[in-house]
Amino acid sequence: MIRQHLFSVRNISRDFFQEIFSLASSIEENPSDFADKCKGKILATLFFEPSTRTRLSFESAMLRLGGKILGFTSSKSSSAVKGESIADTIRMINHYAHIAVIRHYIEGISQIAEEFATIPFISGGTGTQEHPTQALLDLYTIQKEFKKIDNLKIGVMGDLLYGRTIPSLLFSLAKYNNVEINLISPPALNLRKNITLRLQEMNCEYSTFENLREIIDELDVLYVTRIQKERFPDPTDYERLKGIYQINPDDIEKAKENMIILHPLPRVDEIDYKIDKLKHSRYFDQAQNGVWIRMALILKYLEIA
Ligand code: NCD
Repeated sequence: MIRQHLFSVRNISRDFFQEIFSLASSIEENPSDFADKCKGKILATLFFEPSTRTRLSFESAMLRLGGKILGFTSSKSSSAVKGESIADTIRMINHYAHIAVIRHYIEGISQIAEEFATIPFISGGTGTQEHPTQALLDLYTIQKEFKKIDNLKIGVMGDLLYGRTIPSLLFSLAKYNNVEINLISPPALNLRKNITLRLQEMNCEYSTFENLREIIDELDVLYVTRIQKERFPDPTDYERLKGIYQINPDDIEKAKENMIILHPLPRVDEIDYKIDKLKHSRYFDQAQNGVWIRMALILKYLEIA
């Protein structure tokens, strides 16, 4: 039987977002009520690219639900090094687990899962394309803070070219009403054409800036990402751009009192450590919210809740 998978936020509705948020919130309030929900179930984490938060928070989520976990953390420790195809790996996992999270660099991974997976497959990040569960936890963090997502002004700053959290975040925000999107990046790191076209299709408008100071005083949320060093085909391009944007307390001096700063993490040098202590920083709370969101996703995709 072909089950439903999660590879793109574009395929899920605003209603589904809200369902996940409300379940995540119930879990967060009373985690012990959910402690046995996944007894007897196994989550596979198949990570062909490095990860800290996504893999560990999915594993923590499954363990907190009373389930078990198995998996690998690099393509080097899987039979991919022996030449096994990803389709064959998926066909095996169908028999070893009830649900799987996969992080892979190939863009067609969702079609392969669609064809070969008989258990639900959730993307833990696909190349430079999308990171749907990150967007869910990003929006959950925003909603917890402002009690809404509609009508907010969001700044998205950083590597818009290669960061996969960004398309998922923008496609998700496009589902809400009157969200003002402000993209802040050096021109060399602007959005790719295929993403801008998709945003157009979704009637999602945005403004662009090169300098955070032009817009900081208007923002409710500032979402920052690192430059994705590993994605640059030419390392000299990375060397040229590294450190090109770094925010420190002076850059956000004019920010609104209740403006929050988010970051999917890992951070390299784009947010000064001094900002961690300011009232605006929420990136570690955001990472913690990832556990509640991923618990909710496991329950939904296993059709337990
Ligand atoms: C992000 C990723 O892997 O895309 N990390 C994460 O999952 N929180 C962001 C990044 O690597 O910059």
